[in-house]
Amino acid sequence: MGNPNRSKAEKGLMRWIDDRMAVTQAWEDHLSKYYAPKNFNFWYFFGSLAMLVLVNQILTGIWLTMSYNPSAEGAFASVEYIMRDVEYGWLLRYLHSTGASAFFVVVYLHMFRGLMYGSYRQPRELIWLFGMAIYLALMAEAFMGYLLPWGQMSYWGAQVIISLFGAIPYIGEGLQEWIRGDYLISGITLNRFFSLHVIALPIVLLALVVLHILALHEVGSNNPDGIEIKKHKDEKGIPLDGIPFHPYYSVKDIVGVVVFLFVFLLVVFFFPEGGGYFIEKPNFEPANSLKTPEHIAPVWYFTPFYAMLRAVTYPLFGMDAKFWGVVVMGGAIAILFVLPWLDRSPVKSMRYKGILSKVWLAIFAVCFVVLGVLGAIPATEGRTTIAQIATLLYFVFFLAMPFYTRMEKTKPVPERVTG
Ligand code: HEM
Repeated sequence: MGNPNRSKAEKGLMRWIDDRMAVTQAWEDHLSKYYAPKNFNFWYFFGSLAMLVLVNQILTGIWLTMSYNPSAEGAFASVEYIMRDVEYGWLLRYLHSTGASAFFVVVYLHMFRGLMYGSYRQPRELIWLFGMAIYLALMAEAFMGYLLPWGQMSYWGAQVIISLFGAIPYIGEGLQEWIRGDYLISGITLNRFFSLHVIALPIVLLALVVLHILALHEVGSNNPDGIEIKKHKDEKGIPLDGIPFHPYYSVKDIVGVVVFLFVFLLVVFFFPEGGGYFIEKPNFEPANSLKTPEHIAPVWYFTPFYAMLRAVTYPLFGMDAKFWGVVVMGGAIAILFVLPWLDRSPVKSMRYKGILSKVWLAIFAVCFVVLGVLGAIPATEGRTTIAQIATLLYFVFFLAMPFYTRMEKTKPVPERVTG
């Protein structure tokens, strides 16, 4: 926009637009004069990659919708039609189904970066809260999308999740019926999930991503050292450790995009079912309300929470185990919302935190993965015990955080970023 080689006509046109809408100003504020810390590392690729996957999901979703039939009678066959008869339909579908898994891979890594560098800490609480709202919307989006192919796992997975609402006392039964719009999951449920999946939730997601970025650009990015670059500015008010996002990071992010696309397309072209983890095997059979699959498991990105649900096996205070399972599962997500207020460390980044924070973050990560594995395979007595221990440790990581982050000895934080 500030290009000196622009012709007179171009400059005139730009001025005409700028007088009516501050495009150049927005370009500068968010790109060419948005100063990001110069020490971003590998972990900072995932925000831009999440945006890339979001665009992929929207574009492939629009084209899938052109040939998909949202009815109990036609849905399964229309997906087969897309796969076999629509030109490049197989590619559109695999880009979309693999894209859903890629979205969660990218978002989980993006969130883990936040945990490592304390990116949720003051003054970035709102960025984190918008991020958590995105995460919730993304889960709803993925859940509803999974019903659309109307396969066996679409049907029975939805059955399990919707029945969780039934565990809520008094209103549970009615709530389930309200969600389904019928006495059982039917074409009516499919229709409403379709409408929410293709219109309502994408709008919500896009709006939340805009708010997420606006909140980020208000306070500026954190960095692996967890120090504020705005504390040291030159005489023009530019942070000494900052570099303009464009062209420096816009170009650097292309490297991440190329590597990501290489891995992503490798999966799309050669392992689109992901060994039954991206598209589960029973989903190649049409939904049948009279035949329950032998083993119902959600797609991998929900399995940590599913394992927590199954880990609760005791009734308590007159409420059954399922109710407490739902409470624990909901609590596991809800507690992430209050994370900014649980961390009391004088430093932000894991680089300068003490040993307790480091060990607890490692325990948390291991537990999350272990729960993810356990949620994907049938439960046994031994596995349930492991899931119970992992669930307990998951919560201790958060609930004990106000204590261990204050007790431990931290390292001195440098004044300027360390590169
Ligand atoms: C559609 C999903 C999402 C998109 C497109 C997205 C996009 C972005 C982008 C582009 C950035 C700046 C670049 C970067 O720091 O990597 C960012 C930063 C951030 N995001 Fe997200 N995000 C998403 C989901 C989430 C979620 C689920 C969370 C956490 C709950 C989250 C928390 C954060 C935080 C804390 C930052 C600031 C990081 C820092 O400055 O160190 N985001 N996001």
